[in-house]
Amino acid sequence: MDEIHALPAEFAHTASLAKGLGFGGVQIHAAHGFLLSQFLSPLFNKRQDAYGGSLQNRMRLLLEVINEVRKAVGPEFPVGIKLNASDQLDGGFAEDEALEVVAAVDQVAIDLIDISGGTYFPGAASSSDRAGSGPYFLEFAGRAREKTKIPLMVTGGFKTRAQAENAIVEGKADIIGLARALVVDPELPSFWLSGQRDESQFPRFKNPPEGGVTAWYTMQITQIANGGATLSPDDLVGAIEAYESRDETRRRIWNTKHS
Ligand SMILES: Cc1cc2nc3c(=O)[nH]c(=O)nc-3n(C[C@H](O)[C@H](O)[C@H](O)COP(=O)(O)O)c2cc1C
Repeated sequence: MDEIHALPAEFAHTASLAKGLGFGGVQIHAAHGFLLSQFLSPLFNKRQDAYGGSLQNRMRLLLEVINEVRKAVGPEFPVGIKLNASDQLDGGFAEDEALEVVAAVDQVAIDLIDISGGTYFPGAASSSDRAGSGPYFLEFAGRAREKTKIPLMVTGGFKTRAQAENAIVEGKADIIGLARALVVDPELPSFWLSGQRDESQFPRFKNPPEGGVTAWYTMQITQIANGGATLSPDDLVGAIEAYESRDETRRRIWNTKHS
């Protein structure tokens, strides 16, 4: 319990560091199976104290973190949260509960709610691994819109300007989040603005293993950073190997420094 009580101040300290270093805002991550989303999820959170059980208890830590971060950075500094519409796991955090969290967050000083979903938990779908033809959390965003006036960002599956525009025009989102589209096409927003091109082509992978798609995109970011050649979808196996060996090296460095 002491560790839980220490967490809001730790998030607040990190947010203050980011502000001090000149970042324009911070986002509190309460999605994708990371700590705060595990607290929200009845599948992971089996506590029987004030931080587990009812949804009100499961969202207690998130609300404490938000309040502490806000106190640390002041009223003017932008603070967003990233929230799962659903864990997409049987017995996990689901949409009706996520809507109640949106309603609760509406009552605190948050500037942006970024809607996402899925988890990195083995056996589950992660948002960055998912194939499909279009945006996937829009219906939930429409429901969330009825619960809050806080600006909503929706991330997941956007590839075309028309998809992004429709989400805005239909009032489901105020901001569109792009991840993979920007990895394969870093200039895409400029093309959208100039009308030069509307669509981004995502690579197609044959039977990628779990986590493989995200690994490929991660290594493609590295290629961009190093000015290397664009990876082909056929490089999937090599990309996964490079990703895993890079992680292994990082793990070793971390363990050496912190064990
Ligand atoms: C290479 C890669 C790295 C990512 N890293 C993060 C991350 O650090 N934090 C996060 O919240 N989401 C991360 N994501 C997930 C994206 O933010 C986004 O939710 C997901 O990819 C779905 O959006 P998309 O369809 O536009 O890719 C990552 C995605 C990719 C492809």
